[in-house]
Amino acid sequence: MEVFERLAIKPLEWRDGAVRWIDVSRLPWEERVVETRDVERLAKAIERLEIRGAPAIGVAAALGIAMAAYNSDAETVEQLLRDVERAAERLRRTRPTAYNLFWAIDRMLGTARRAAQSGDTDGLRRTLVEEALRVMREDIEANMTMGRIGAELVEDGDTILTHCNTGALATAGYGTALGVVRAAWEQGKKISVIATETRPLLQGARLTVWELVKEGIPVRLITDNMVGYVMAKGLVSKVFLGADRILLTGHVTNKIGTYTIAVLAKRHRVPFYVVAPTSTIDPRTRPEDIVIEERSPEEVRTVLGKLTITVPNVEVYNPAFDTTPPELVSAIITEKGIARPPYPESLSKLLGKRSAR
Ligand code: MRU
Repeated sequence: MEVFERLAIKPLEWRDGAVRWIDVSRLPWEERVVETRDVERLAKAIERLEIRGAPAIGVAAALGIAMAAYNSDAETVEQLLRDVERAAERLRRTRPTAYNLFWAIDRMLGTARRAAQSGDTDGLRRTLVEEALRVMREDIEANMTMGRIGAELVEDGDTILTHCNTGALATAGYGTALGVVRAAWEQGKKISVIATETRPLLQGARLTVWELVKEGIPVRLITDNMVGYVMAKGLVSKVFLGADRILLTGHVTNKIGTYTIAVLAKRHRVPFYVVAPTSTIDPRTRPEDIVIEERSPEEVRTVLGKLTITVPNVEVYNPAFDTTPPELVSAIITEKGIARPPYPESLSKLLGKRSAR
């Protein structure tokens, strides 16, 4: 059976030249599916976090480039390539931190430029659709493999703390860190999850809880500032979370609050595991050059734009991500295996040829 058919939650779909997604900014109140053939609409969906999570935005960009080619009325390969490059350029400007976005766009452009040499416009369109579907399929397969590998680190009775949303809704399906939780649960391990709410946009409270409740996996929700207390009380066996960008040094950039959890995990000797596909590993950037997205002050001044919780126009700082240094990371689980310190060696080995470029 095609891997897409095995998914309980389908966050992204390709429908004859259109891209479809679950608008996760409306969950858990409304399960709305949106469809478009317009690259600008798709780019806006990524900017507004209707589609979010590093692997999901990478897959959405790949589908967006295929969509631009499929719907282009270009008559020559040169014109078609220009349309594809314009779409890629727009999608590249949506969000700066998640590496999967740039990885997927570069992969699609590389494929487009190679296929363009044949001079066949329809062939180029077909190749790009096939490549985008391959990017999507590979993401799901990577998640299922990471789930299996990561579940070996989970013991019966464990309570797993997670942050943000790393589930089906953050990927093409199944999930990264939440994929490990899913796999351990499917293996019959009696586990439970502590999910942080993840201010300001509440991906933990809205999305992780929604996914776990749907599967019947026991979950308790805490606010972000409770992590130290629950660890000090011995309530957390392991931390599993995802990543937006992992450097070869082992620096892990992920949702704001991850660094705080890592420091607390070290203090309380709780293993801190990162789960991400190799498409999240950035072999070139140095730690000091990582771009951390800063988002609108309104996200902090209000609760999801609905309730103002402070004095109007108070100055706000709203970084969407932080970076955890390698000495706080117990292991990084990828679809190619588990990397352990020292990361420059273990991650380069996992990446193989890609790390040498
Ligand atoms: O701002 P978001 O919701 O896109 O941030 C997402 C995260 O930080 C996730 O933890 C990360 O992308 C890993 S998802 C598998």
